[in-house]
Amino acid sequence: MTASGQDRKGAVDRQASAGKAGLFHQAGGQTWSAEGYAANGRFVADLTEGVLAWLEAKPGERILDLGCGDGALTERLVLSGADVVGVDASRELLAAAEARGLRVLHRDARALGFDAEFEAVFSNAVLHWVLPPEDAVREIHAALKPGGRFVAEFGGHGNVAAIVTAMRAAARLLGGDETLAGPWFFPTPAEYTAMLEAAGFAVERCGLFARPTPLPTGLEGWLGTFRKPFFDQFDGPHRQEALAIVEALLAPSLRDREGRWTADYMRIRVSARRI
Ligand code: BEZ
Repeated sequence: MTASGQDRKGAVDRQASAGKAGLFHQAGGQTWSAEGYAANGRFVADLTEGVLAWLEAKPGERILDLGCGDGALTERLVLSGADVVGVDASRELLAAAEARGLRVLHRDARALGFDAEFEAVFSNAVLHWVLPPEDAVREIHAALKPGGRFVAEFGGHGNVAAIVTAMRAAARLLGGDETLAGPWFFPTPAEYTAMLEAAGFAVERCGLFARPTPLPTGLEGWLGTFRKPFFDQFDGPHRQEALAIVEALLAPSLRDREGRWTADYMRIRVSARRI
């Protein structure tokens, strides 16, 4: 993609007015829209075979889908015959999930309020947004029946490191706030295992792996959807300049000869049981 500066500015502004998809809190000022998420974040639900295999959902068991978003993945859990409830903090995404006929509730991951109700809690591509992470871990533990399992995948240590570094560099060059480049929680397996154990889980498996992720709407689409607050700190011309700097820094490593962008995703995947 990448076209003229005018095109770039237009696309980021369109993303900005669309808001975006909903996950759990609004880390670093993030907001969401169902439309933007469907266009730029569909891969979130599409690259999930591995974590679904770890979950092994069974007919009849009660499963909580934590951060169900627009329900694309929740629908797949329902197909297993499990009794699935989705929760999310975005009312706009929940409306999209309800339109699929799913059972959903409006909840914040840090205050779920369930008491030993589920055989499993499942979460995909959400927990890096929830700060402080200990609050979500405590609520997940409380939601599970004793012996129930927690299976999740989200951004792990080093996730989008190149993208964040390029944004930090742009902020330095333009006199902006570089802390807006990356508000997320991307733990190592050792760090997350310790956090889960401290909360009363027995961790069965926890690993970190690279998952280079093609960006169907390019880097610009991803940035407009997932890191809008960073670009919102700049006024018109500087906003455009910030995007141009980030793209120029990243193109040699994240854009191929045909102009296709791939994000440097790292995933942490975990399976643990409530003791
Ligand atoms: C992720 O899924 O790893 C991710 C998505 C948006 C922003 C940061 C990370």
